[in-house]
Amino acid sequence: ELVSKGNHRHYMLKEIYEQPIVVAQTLRSYLQQLEGRVSLPIPEFSLNAIKRVTIVACGTSYYAGMVAKYWFEQFARVPVDIDVASEFRYRAPVMEPGGLALFISQSGETADTLAALRHAKAEGQTIAVVVNVPTSTMAREADLLLPTHAGPEIGVASTKAFTCQLAVLAALATNLAQAKGLLTPEDERAIVRHLAEAPASLNAALAYDESIAAMAHTIAGARDVLYLGRGTDYPLALEGALKLKEISYIHAEGYAAGEMKHGPIALIDENVPVIVIAPSGPLFDKTVSNMQEVQARGGKVVLISDYDGIQAAGENCMATITMPKVHPLIAPLVYAVPVQLLAYHVAVAKGTDVDQPRNLAKSVTVE
Ligand code: G6P
Repeated sequence: ELVSKGNHRHYMLKEIYEQPIVVAQTLRSYLQQLEGRVSLPIPEFSLNAIKRVTIVACGTSYYAGMVAKYWFEQFARVPVDIDVASEFRYRAPVMEPGGLALFISQSGETADTLAALRHAKAEGQTIAVVVNVPTSTMAREADLLLPTHAGPEIGVASTKAFTCQLAVLAALATNLAQAKGLLTPEDERAIVRHLAEAPASLNAALAYDESIAAMAHTIAGARDVLYLGRGTDYPLALEGALKLKEISYIHAEGYAAGEMKHGPIALIDENVPVIVIAPSGPLFDKTVSNMQEVQARGGKVVLISDYDGIQAAGENCMATITMPKVHPLIAPLVYAVPVQLLAYHVAVAKGTDVDQPRNLAKSVTVE
């Protein structure tokens, strides 16, 4: 292999550990830290005319897109439509003039995403891509290329590409908000400051690796695992479940915490671990009340939160994972780390092939 594993046992672990560096590397081309400004690599590109954003992607990249939907709507007040690429073309999506179609892909080659890109182009949309391979087909066919600088990702289950995608999407959301006149220079400076803190917070999150490894055996014996989150932690719950099923072959589902009572709560018993992703903040209390519904039914909870959150709600949990206290904008990047590490250590405990899971491919070039 051209890329070495260094001191790590698997590429996936190496790539998880690279995140502080590659996120910093990626942010460097979007943040002007001294000026406190966010800019895109194509400065002449005007975003203020964008009336609607359509996001299309597959797998982990799709979950990055789901996080971005929250950001684009909240900060830039732009309506966002999002779909998995394999569904997008076939539902006859309505794309009006003045729309931006945004495609997210580590490889830039995923067949479904590429077909969706060509469809949106034929419908007159402006095509933006967030890709990690700058020479890829999607990069070549885009009007607006927004690269991630994650470096080659070898592990089939995506990790560092995801957090780098989030970094770029946060920059794009900020830029859209700026183009719409919704940010004061002080707002923008604050956002730059928060984003610039992401690499250090990712490092701090990695410090919990050993305690996550120590609890992995409690999950490794489970047949089903649920992940719950609200707001941007909902896509993270989906990503956590995807990571776990991809590499440990344990059935896992991610659910919006508030939706649990409409179905998955029927699954809860003492054999179903429930991973709750809940940084302290405006949605914390609501998520905790969903967590208590799980506990009242004998469910075993692993709570991932910050110190304040764990102090407030960690008492009856099977385990807790303490994250650094971070601004909500960078929380999805930081909380990605414990869900990746948990999946990794559970897979190692089960002895599965972490870097080459059965039936999966790194880049899927058939529709
Ligand atoms: C495959 C990989 C996933 C990845 C997805 C999308 O399923 O195993 O890790 O998230 O493809 O790939 P892309 O290159 O388009 O991001």
